[in-house]
Amino acid sequence: MRERISRVCDIVRRADRVVVMTGAGTSAESGIPTFREAQTGLWAKFRPEELATPQAFEADPQRVWQWYSWRRELVRKAQPNAGHEALAKLAAAVPRFSLVTQNVDGLHQRAGNTHVLELHGNILRNRCHASGRIVEGDLPDGEPPPSPFVKGAFIRPDVVWFGEALPEDAFARAVEVSRDANVFFSVGTSSQVEPAASLARLAASSGAQVIEINPDTTPLSGQADVVLRGSSAQILPQIMAAL
Ligand code: OAD
Repeated sequence: MRERISRVCDIVRRADRVVVMTGAGTSAESGIPTFREAQTGLWAKFRPEELATPQAFEADPQRVWQWYSWRRELVRKAQPNAGHEALAKLAAAVPRFSLVTQNVDGLHQRAGNTHVLELHGNILRNRCHASGRIVEGDLPDGEPPPSPFVKGAFIRPDVVWFGEALPEDAFARAVEVSRDANVFFSVGTSSQVEPAASLARLAASSGAQVIEINPDTTPLSGQADVVLRGSSAQILPQIMAAL
């Protein structure tokens, strides 16, 4: 591992455009469960893929709202971990740095990263399901409140569900920085959800060195220049300490 970390440090030292893309694994050690692991407690009988869709919300708005209320509570109680903190330091250590995340928990921002490109929205915001307009303020946990903008519509979390389009600006910017990158880190993501997963391939085909940090093999592993097997909360601080 030490050898691979020192190889990563060499790559980063030579780079002037570094992109990091993160997924749910980055927040695992902050106590927020990933999407691929089995759920526990009340939600054990559902798979996230059955809850995080517009169809699920339209069929049973209360169930989906309550699932998000539970996840929102986990996010509120969570603290950024050593991996998030290392990424805030990395941002300050390289000439040009972009952080793209599939996470909706805002922990990168709380750790000090600014200009985070959120591809899947943010769980702490809400919007009208029909019009997309943002609804400010804290909302009750039990049932989704009616939208103040469209009669008959409900308020929903401002996240991207399966089958929905990504926020155009954030995705366009993510494509741009990935195409331009010298180094692309893929951290704590299963690399299974498109179009986010395509960014690493785009970076690789545009000449970037790709570094994966993940305890498990993913569809990206075979294409990565360096694979660091393990937790991001442990490996990212080791990279920063060696840089
Ligand atoms: P997944 O839940 O698909 O994958 C989490 C990844 O994190 C897996 O590859 C794990 O091996 C890895 N992992 C687990 N613990 C880790 C740790 N401590 N350190 C590093 N990696 C670890 O999450 P995403 O790839 O983010 O979309 O999933 C992509 C999208 O699918 C999510 O944004 C979400 C989901 O549906 C929406 O909510 C729209």
